[in-house]
Amino acid sequence: MTKIAFIGGGNMARALIGGLLNSGTSSEQLLVAEPQAEAAASLRRDFGVVVDSNNNEIVAQADCLVLAVKPQVLKQVAQQMATSVQAKKPLVVSIVAGIPMDSLDQWLGGGVSVVRTMPNMPALVGLGITALFANQRASEQQRQLAEQILSAAGSTLWVENEVLLDAVTAVSGSGPAYFFRVMEAMVESGKALGLSAEQATELTLATAAGAAELARQSDHSVATLRQQVTSPGGTTAAALEVMNDQGIGQIFNDALQAACDRAAELAAEA
Ligand SMILES: NC(=O)c1ccc[n+]([C@@H]2O[C@H](COP(=O)([O-])OP(=O)(O)OC[C@H]3O[C@@H](n4cnc5c(N)ncnc54)[C@H](OP(=O)(O)O)[C@@H]3O)[C@@H](O)[C@H]2O)c1
Repeated sequence: MTKIAFIGGGNMARALIGGLLNSGTSSEQLLVAEPQAEAAASLRRDFGVVVDSNNNEIVAQADCLVLAVKPQVLKQVAQQMATSVQAKKPLVVSIVAGIPMDSLDQWLGGGVSVVRTMPNMPALVGLGITALFANQRASEQQRQLAEQILSAAGSTLWVENEVLLDAVTAVSGSGPAYFFRVMEAMVESGKALGLSAEQATELTLATAAGAAELARQSDHSVATLRQQVTSPGGTTAAALEVMNDQGIGQIFNDALQAACDRAAELAAEA
């Protein structure tokens, strides 16, 4: 029985634990290291999993660690666990944003099988997407285990090199905020056109969810779908003309480049 231990029992860990239990993993396979008593009690109550405030006690029992603490504390947490990790040599799956796998491996004492991942916020409702990258030490079986864990919170895809995780961060990691920003603007514009806040919000959210689902189910590219919904001389064409004149493509190019550059800077600082 493979034992999976979460180091840090916050929002993302809860999303993955809930997903794993729903997809058939037994609560006896899951352990959590969580320092905060209230959070620990709620993890025990909600999921029936073993929770301990001592990270090393948890590491000693685990075949796989899922590092789910904030980036600022990861170095300290990893260094404090290094001796137990070296004794047990578990697979280490990191969901921590921006920390390169070489730094993590070094903090853990070296020679560790690491899968670095970049999930996103919709994982909290089971609709996340996570990109994964494994180091040379990770076996095929360990890669499959990492993928299985992250699949509990949505879909997954592998990237061929670690640098691409910065691009992933720019697209899907930070991406939910771009859609929130667009939806925020649409709600405000709907209100300016006379709709109530509730009406504008309901229309915007249903349109966003519907457009995403349609694009997922369709064999056409999003560019083709956009053309199909844009009759010449119609209302959609009028709106898109304004967006194009104001450089929407360039805005997204610049925005995603800025996110990607920032991800690389943060990784260099780690
Ligand atoms: N949320 C997202 O959308 C998202 C997306 C992509 C990646 N991520 C990554 O996922 C990671 C977790 O994010 P989150 O939103 O789940 O954060 P979170 O809710 O703050 O969870 C982190 C948990 O770790 C605990 N912790 C702190 N110090 C610890 C220690 N020394 N040992 C063990 N546990 C400790 C925290 O306890 P206290 O509350 O007591 O500090 C907290 O319960 C982050 O690194 C983030 O970069 C998150």
